[in-house]
Amino acid sequence: MDRIRIIGGTPLKGSIPIGGAKNAALALMPACLLTDQTLTLTNLPHLVDITTMANLLAQHGVGMALNGDSGLGGASGRALDLTAAEIVNTTAPYDLVRRMRASVLVLGPLLARCGRARVSLPGGCAIGTRPVDLHLKALEQMGARIDLQEGYIAAEVAGRLKGAHIIFPQVTVGGTENLLMAASLAEGETVIANAAREPEVADLAHCLLAMGARIEGIGTGTLRIQGVERLHGAVYSVVPDRIETGSYAVAAAITRGNVELVGARMDLMDSVIKVLRDCGAEVTATERGMRVRADAAELVGTDIMTEPYPGFPTDMQAQLMALMATASGASMITETIFENRFMHVPELMRMGAKINVHGASAIVRGVPRLSGAPVMATDLRASVSLVLAGLAAEGETVVNRVYHLDRGYERVEEKLAACGARIERIKGEGAE
Ligand code: UD1
Repeated sequence: MDRIRIIGGTPLKGSIPIGGAKNAALALMPACLLTDQTLTLTNLPHLVDITTMANLLAQHGVGMALNGDSGLGGASGRALDLTAAEIVNTTAPYDLVRRMRASVLVLGPLLARCGRARVSLPGGCAIGTRPVDLHLKALEQMGARIDLQEGYIAAEVAGRLKGAHIIFPQVTVGGTENLLMAASLAEGETVIANAAREPEVADLAHCLLAMGARIEGIGTGTLRIQGVERLHGAVYSVVPDRIETGSYAVAAAITRGNVELVGARMDLMDSVIKVLRDCGAEVTATERGMRVRADAAELVGTDIMTEPYPGFPTDMQAQLMALMATASGASMITETIFENRFMHVPELMRMGAKINVHGASAIVRGVPRLSGAPVMATDLRASVSLVLAGLAAEGETVVNRVYHLDRGYERVEEKLAACGARIERIKGEGAE
């Protein structure tokens, strides 16, 4: 298994291209199941999770052709044609779903298009139990019959799904996405109240519009969908990844560097930019994206609470904790979205960070310098926080279990090395 070796202490300088958003792409790809025509997605990132979704869709019968790859990543990205001319199989098997929870996003479209679907229950994951009960209840409200059998969600509907008034008791990104897709082909009007407002949900809604769906309220907490009988093909460009952007913004800040993030969408990052500025980093718009610099700043701790969008994203919590570990003073970081999302804490502490966890909050007391250590993490954002800590630490850090990073960060070591980081991938050797 690959590892990443970092010798910390170099301020990053230069530019980093930002790719298409993983989480948007993982919702856009299953949208191809809603039509027999071709959906072309451009600016698609090259990531393990995207390949997992492609494998899942292929076994449902989706034909795929790469129709352009600059090989450069970033704004040029990849273009993929997805054609679900005929759906040959409505089962999403355990073996694929267990690798990636976002697999459950085939449920809504399969049910809407074929009237049935069998999707393995995702089960637990490293950051908590993460149930899908809200997806299922909402689909039941639309007329689906749902049984849980042998670890599978078996869903069926006679005829088309029916429009319904859905009130999510809790904001759910995946639930909103599943419902948006299902409602687009349902009979009549669906209203989704307390819908997730994340930019990735809006991206899916805009793609569905391009495919002929009728959706109002995009970007708000109330989505109104008039179901149509059929959708058609479209060409759609995946929104730039705000979490990748935020992660490299922290890389610039934590190394007290100066980096331009090319292709970044500042307008989708208010809460993250506010935190970076509050702790003393300079964040400015550039013609090509945004610039983050902390080369002349003394960073100070600031409090953070994760919330649904437009609040501070849970997917940036671990990265900001690494930054706060090197800022002066104390910060309180509160996680409200997922239980058990502090698994990076013991690893950061092994690098010299001073952190106390009390329930859903962590108190971080900044230290002048972290020290390198061998570390590993059990989820994607925790892994990147260790890379960030390693960039700032004195001496050598080796991050194990790099496959987590490869799920969500394209060419991470190349992008960082291009800005002066001393970072390399150590191939194979089977070590964990
Ligand atoms: C998505 C993102 C993930 C991000 C998360 C929150 C993708 C592929 N993943 O995950 O990176 O961290 O949004 O921004 O886009 N919940 C229930 N029942 C449900 C559904 C959710 O209790 O049926 C709970 C979850 O356990 C969690 C909270 O609701 O505590 C939010 O989860 P949700 O927004 O659904 O996250 P995902 O869509 O899984």
